[in-house]
Amino acid sequence: MDFFQKLPKIELHAHLNGSLSNSTLSELHVLKYGKEPATERDESFYKITAGQNLTLKECFQKFKYAHDLTDQPETLAYATRAVIRDFAVDNVIYLELRTTPKATYHMTKTQYLTTVLETIRQAQKDYPTVTVKLLPSIDRSKGLQEATENVSLVLEMHQLYPDIIKGMDLSGAPYGTKFSDFATILERAKVRGLKMALHCGEFPDDDEVWEMFQFGTDRIGHGTFIGGSNLKFAKTNRIPFECCLTSNVKCSTVKSYEDHHFKKLWKAKHEVCICTDDFGVFDTSLSDELRICSETYGLSTQDILQLQENTIEYTFASEAEKQQLTKLFDLFKNTLKDN
Ligand code: IMP
Ligand code: ZN
Repeated sequence: MDFFQKLPKIELHAHLNGSLSNSTLSELHVLKYGKEPATERDESFYKITAGQNLTLKECFQKFKYAHDLTDQPETLAYATRAVIRDFAVDNVIYLELRTTPKATYHMTKTQYLTTVLETIRQAQKDYPTVTVKLLPSIDRSKGLQEATENVSLVLEMHQLYPDIIKGMDLSGAPYGTKFSDFATILERAKVRGLKMALHCGEFPDDDEVWEMFQFGTDRIGHGTFIGGSNLKFAKTNRIPFECCLTSNVKCSTVKSYEDHHFKKLWKAKHEVCICTDDFGVFDTSLSDELRICSETYGLSTQDILQLQENTIEYTFASEAEKQQLTKLFDLFKNTLKDN
């Protein structure tokens, strides 16, 4: 195992249905359809392969393949467990997973969320090296009625699983929607103490970014197009950016790794962390993302350690959990000294 693999890692931005590996997709296909998928179908429907030049809009189409496979409780539970296992194998010690509760032909939204939460609870016993939290998502493209229903459901479930549900995510294709319409809906969760991890500045719209800051997002998902006074505000108020390098390059919201905004954020000492977004769709891992980060922007081993240690502070974990993560991290640093 190399340094990046061995490093205890913190993942704060991972969508469940975007985090299915090839083997998990095949297994889900067998579970649902009783046979393996054709490989090319698998690749072209779900993964973004090297050299593909897709727009953000086209990238959103990719999730349909996974959504079809996880539309029943059995396959959804299987997928959730596989994602947690894959992060644990990559030595992720703390994971905040996101997913949008969906009503399908086979289950209600309540069943969807309960399945994910129960699977997380069980996985905590089977994969004890990774602590898992859930940030249920609002998918902007599904409209206000869905958003309202999802917040009500999340508040209900929060009472049953307060140790797992720690916040909410706003994501999905943003086209033709306004954040201000979702703000009052999300406010209901905010006042109940749920943290907010909003996709923010994923496309150029300074006014919307400012509205999200006024609303009070606790972290910034991507933040690709944040500049000027908004950038200053983020720095002054120490709002962490969740940077997803490969995701942004493959969705063409940044030209190349070299052009990624992580570079300027790191240099200007913003609060920033590295995440995968959708490791299945983008064919990556958190270890790979940290390796790319180190190699592209010249971060030393010490810098990478600092980056991960800082990330503990950006989690929505309790103070006791943060202390435990720091302890694990210190143990790892000691093993480096000994070698
Ligand atoms: P799910 O919520 O578990 O179904 O995960 C997949 C969903 O996450 C997609 O359908 C999108 O709504 C959302 N998503 C994944 N990546 C992104 C992103 O980069 N921007 C916005 N939304 C995203
Ligand atoms: Zn995302």
